[in-house]
Amino acid sequence: MKVLVVGNGGREHALAWKIKQSPLVDKLYVARGNAGIWQIAEKVDISPTDIPNLVKFAKEEKIDLTVVGPEQPLSAGIVDAFLEEGLKIYGHKKDAAILEASKVFAKNFMKKYNIPTAFYETFDNEKEAIEFVKKMGTPIVIKADGLAAGKGVVIANTFEEAVDTIKDMFAGKFGEASKRIVIEEFLDGEEASYIAMVKGEKLVPMATSQDHKRVFDGDKGPNTGGMGAYSPAPVITPEIENEILEKIMYPTLKGMKEEGRELCGFLYAGLMIGSKGINVLEFNVRMGDPETQPIMRRLESDLVKHMLDILDGNIGKVEPKWSDKWSIGVVMASKGYPGKYETGKVITGIEEAEKDPDIVVFHSGTDIKDGKIVTAGGRVLTVTAVGNTLKEAKEKVYKAVEKIHFEGAHYRKDIGDKGIKRLENLNG
Ligand code: AMP
Ligand code: GLY
Repeated sequence: MKVLVVGNGGREHALAWKIKQSPLVDKLYVARGNAGIWQIAEKVDISPTDIPNLVKFAKEEKIDLTVVGPEQPLSAGIVDAFLEEGLKIYGHKKDAAILEASKVFAKNFMKKYNIPTAFYETFDNEKEAIEFVKKMGTPIVIKADGLAAGKGVVIANTFEEAVDTIKDMFAGKFGEASKRIVIEEFLDGEEASYIAMVKGEKLVPMATSQDHKRVFDGDKGPNTGGMGAYSPAPVITPEIENEILEKIMYPTLKGMKEEGRELCGFLYAGLMIGSKGINVLEFNVRMGDPETQPIMRRLESDLVKHMLDILDGNIGKVEPKWSDKWSIGVVMASKGYPGKYETGKVITGIEEAEKDPDIVVFHSGTDIKDGKIVTAGGRVLTVTAVGNTLKEAKEKVYKAVEKIHFEGAHYRKDIGDKGIKRLENLNG
């Protein structure tokens, strides 16, 4: 069969890498991809958000299955457009994708269906927002309503910082996305990502994982799209997983169905597990980036078969098989990210790093210029390793990272540490 992957990032490289291994797949296309994905899939020069041309391409090429990576095409209605033409596509329809596309929608939805989340209010003007911060105190969390690539969330530690953030947001720092804002209580604890393949009221869990949102070691500095992840996440014990399923995942599926916004695709709950129990920080209607990269390294069964079974109404048959190994992904980013950064820096050392069979380097923002692989985004690569222990995976991944170079590259050095520490404590 012919499969088309839509998207340009590290998540899409990991999905394409896994899809390519399926015996069901004869031909793999990517729109538009990056320098890494083009090594394993045929490049289709159409932007992931150019829906009319993607539909036209899929019809002309008789694509049997389209897999959507990022949120933007989902919330712009790519799935609705493909289904109208009778084309098979894995992902949520526009009316369901609002669960990620609007934080105001997501928070109101969680309140209505009793899904645990931080106390909050929504605002469309500065004055009331500032009054609320005065009442609540700091630290406090301020979120742009719309999509902002993981950067529209600010944790303000002082009143002044909160006021500046509110002013910036209403002044259009994130464009339309910050015309409305959510302000919510700060929750402490440890974050984890819980992702499942879902359809209607049924789900199949993916392996657990933990992302690292802040740019610097020790969870310092501003939020990014994610600087690294590992799988599984020891913070999600079997008891905690049960609670996530019973109090969060199933009620979300049921609630969305009741709202007439039935889910079909990946559902990702970003969680905070801490003194106030398990709370949802956000929902995403897609796989996480970088979580996908380590998760795909551990998936032993056929992702394409799983997606087809789900689309054909057989989710009950889907039983993903996971490797017992641990995996880690470390993001190498451009100098300045998550702020302004330059592109076009030559990347070297990927082949050298991949000589170790436990290493796979997934590309995020990369391109080809004069026959060379160059940087083309904020997050450039996710270097992944698998190991028999989390510690071993960490050691391997950093050895590989050190072999890869581009001007200004920066990365966190502590990916995996929280898990390693937790396991050490467990084992005495
Ligand atoms: P979100 O896009 O809503 O998941 O927020 C991005 C990141 O901001 C999260 O992954 C957390 O690291 C942090 N964050 C969001 N909401 C809260 C909260 N209520 N308390 C503490 N940290 C938060
Ligand atoms: N890694 C966080 C996200 O994909 O939203």
